[in-house]
Amino acid sequence: MGKRIHGGDVSSVLLAFLWLQLGLTTAQTSSAWRTLSGNSPAIIAKGGLSGLFPDSSSYAYQAVSLFSANDTTSWCDVRLTKDSVGVCLPDIKLDNCTNIQDIFGKGKKTYVVNGVNTSGWFSVDYNISDLAPVTLTQAIYSRTDKFDSSGLSILSVDDVVTQVQPSPLWLNIQHDAFYSQHNLNMSNYVLSLTKRITVNYLSSPELAFLRRIAPSFTNTKTKLIFCFLDEGIKEPSTNQTYGVLLKNLTLIGTFASGILVPKSYIWPVTEDNYLSPSTSIVTDAHKAGLEIYAAGFANDNLLSYNYSYDPLTECLSFIDNGLFSVDGVVTDFPITPSEAIGCFSRLNKSRVDGKPLIISNNGSSGDYPDCTDLAYNKAVEDGADVIDCPVQVTQDGILICMSSVDLIEDTTVTKSPYSSRLSVIPKLKRTAGIFTFNLTWNEIQKLKPIISQPFYHLYNLERNPRNKNSGNFIKLSDFLTFANNKSVSGILISIENAVFMAEQLRIDVVDSVISALNGAGYQQNCFRSNDSVNRQLCAGEVQAANQV
Ligand SMILES: *[C@@H]1O[C@H](CO)[C@@H](O)[C@H](O)[C@H]1NC(C)=O
Ligand SMILES: *[C@@H]1O[C@H](CO)[C@@H](O)[C@H](O)[C@H]1NC(C)=O
Ligand SMILES: *[C@@H]1O[C@H](CO)[C@@H](O)[C@H](O)[C@H]1NC(C)=O
Ligand SMILES: *[C@@H]1O[C@H](CO)[C@@H](O)[C@H](O)[C@H]1NC(C)=O
Ligand SMILES: *[C@@H]1O[C@H](CO)[C@@H](O)[C@H](O)[C@H]1NC(C)=O
Ligand SMILES: *[C@@H]1O[C@H](CO)[C@@H](O)[C@H](O)[C@H]1NC(C)=O
Ligand SMILES: *[C@@H]1O[C@H](CO)[C@@H](O)[C@H](O)[C@H]1NC(C)=O
Ligand SMILES: *[C@@H]1O[C@H](CO)[C@@H](O)[C@H](O)[C@H]1NC(C)=O
Ligand SMILES: *[C@@H]1O[C@H](CO)[C@@H](O)[C@H](O)[C@H]1NC(C)=O
Ligand SMILES: *[C@@H]1O[C@H](CO)[C@@H](O)[C@H](O)[C@H]1NC(C)=O
Ligand SMILES: *[C@@H]1O[C@H](CO)[C@@H](O)[C@H](O)[C@H]1NC(C)=O
Ligand SMILES: *[C@@H]1O[C@H](CO)[C@@H](O)[C@H](O)[C@H]1NC(C)=O
Repeated sequence: MGKRIHGGDVSSVLLAFLWLQLGLTTAQTSSAWRTLSGNSPAIIAKGGLSGLFPDSSSYAYQAVSLFSANDTTSWCDVRLTKDSVGVCLPDIKLDNCTNIQDIFGKGKKTYVVNGVNTSGWFSVDYNISDLAPVTLTQAIYSRTDKFDSSGLSILSVDDVVTQVQPSPLWLNIQHDAFYSQHNLNMSNYVLSLTKRITVNYLSSPELAFLRRIAPSFTNTKTKLIFCFLDEGIKEPSTNQTYGVLLKNLTLIGTFASGILVPKSYIWPVTEDNYLSPSTSIVTDAHKAGLEIYAAGFANDNLLSYNYSYDPLTECLSFIDNGLFSVDGVVTDFPITPSEAIGCFSRLNKSRVDGKPLIISNNGSSGDYPDCTDLAYNKAVEDGADVIDCPVQVTQDGILICMSSVDLIEDTTVTKSPYSSRLSVIPKLKRTAGIFTFNLTWNEIQKLKPIISQPFYHLYNLERNPRNKNSGNFIKLSDFLTFANNKSVSGILISIENAVFMAEQLRIDVVDSVISALNGAGYQQNCFRSNDSVNRQLCAGEVQAANQV
């Protein structure tokens, strides 16, 4: 195998970039989707692109055609006004998603909704012309309120159809009993609406409602979908919990062609936010002849740590896990399933064409403590082409991989018997540190690593808490053996502070690294540096490596 070293330098950082060329190419495999129909999963945009714009606004619905796959379904939560007009609003309480308090200051009412006294502003108290001056606002406070002042009016279902021409359309209907109490007839509204416009999906978490309208939709293109809410909640028309109803999918199949479940029904999440193994619900539903859709996808949710903060990985785990695929996902950010389905699913991971090089950063340091065996393993598992080792020296002259020369930054040294070995070395650091070269390798191995948390203080984003002190530090020689064994296409060795080490510690790190490389069977074509060590290690072809 041709192994070449590209030399480059960045101020006091000396780099050797080793590169073992492998043939790299891409391919999507041709295996069919594991959905009920074998077609690709549907993308359902909840209230349009509601992750960015106010849910159910014209901006949110229009953005779907700009930012999502062209067959994305638009979802509308239907509410009825006093004059029986269906409007799209994400919440039964208008004060949650509009500026209605500003328009009708005295309109607050308390009504019983599914057996619970609920206070707020309700659509049943207003006719459609009353609502004309009311505008939509962002219902989730962590999202931008920039569009709250854009004057986005409440849209009727007919408005959505005429203005946005969403195709396909999904209507979700809830609180049938509540509307009856206010002398409004939701069944009647739905049946007359579907005579005028094409509705592709009609969903409800209310069993009696779906069962009642079902006969009108046999042999039509409209799919009836039963929505499961959290397992402990009681379904209002049967008084059974959704968890109990889930046990009889045959019953659901008597009136619906599919079910919609919260995503945790499929991949349960533990209290500390790790994924448990998937349940059998997707295959069970398919065996019962039911489609199954998953709800609750949002890129700004706290994702399970297993997804490494990557919503694309989450989406792929529902549609492309080798075992099953849901028939559709309901999301506030349709762009993510669009990418997942259109670009990243069913990839042959051993073949990638012309992709940019992936270089690890202190190993897979977002998942495990910097430069530990676990971090390097994960980097290789995740497909890194090049793994990196920032080289440091121990007191007994052993070269190790460690992201900082100061052990305080990435180990538990301050809580160890070596916590008194502080020194101030202005050339390395302004503040006092406990440096790798003041502990032997044996001593360093007794320390525990600490995972890096660069976004913890600012955004409270924690990394993999279960593994925050896991893994073992490794010597450069072990790193090289590992890299060779895993056949990565390259390694990146960075040496900081070579001058300091040469002058103060009398250790020639560069020479030591080179002999380690040679010892491990790496052959350098060229290796160059012009930092103040100023040595030309070899002559010949030089390719600049502009890393770090
Ligand atoms: C959607 O895009 C695909 C691929 O570009 C194309 O084949 C299909 O005709 C488009 N469908 C619609 C409804 O525009
Ligand atoms: C609106 O309702 C959603 C869902 O119930 C909730 O998460 C959110 O906090 C509510 N927002 C406001 C402004 O009340
Ligand atoms: C709702 O509140 C009213 C007035 O406080 C009370 O009489 C009634 O029992 C409550 N209903 C429920 C379902 O909690
Ligand atoms: C709507 O209700 C208002 C009062 O709430 C009334 O003045 C108006 O005539 C009603 N409009 C329609 C079309 O029913
Ligand atoms: C509601 O409308 C449906 C369909 O038009 C009708 O069958 C039903 O009797 C109505 N319910 C009430 C309570 O009026
Ligand atoms: C459900 O329970 C409530 C109170 O617990 C009761 O009022 C209602 O009639 C019950 N409904 C059915 C369908 O059993
Ligand atoms: C499930 O529902 C079907 C259809 O209603 C019924 O025949 C069957 O007895 C139910 N099974 C159980 C275990 O309750
Ligand atoms: C999620 O991560 C935890 C901790 O690493 C692991 O124990 C668990 O098996 C993972 N879950 C799945 C479904 O892979
Ligand atoms: C994936 O790509 C590799 C390397 O080109 C090839 O050997 C393998 O057969 C491909 N697998 C599938 C399922 O296409
Ligand atoms: C590795 O970790 C160190 C210390 O946390 C950090 O300064 C550096 O930017 C990280 N990345 C690389 C490529 O060294
Ligand atoms: C750490 O090593 C440096 C360089 O050998 C030395 O100057 C310093 O005194 C040592 N500090 C401690 C606390 O041993
Ligand atoms: C090389 O990798 C194989 C398989 O992953 C493993 O069994 C073996 O112990 C490794 N060898 C070394 C020297 O790490």
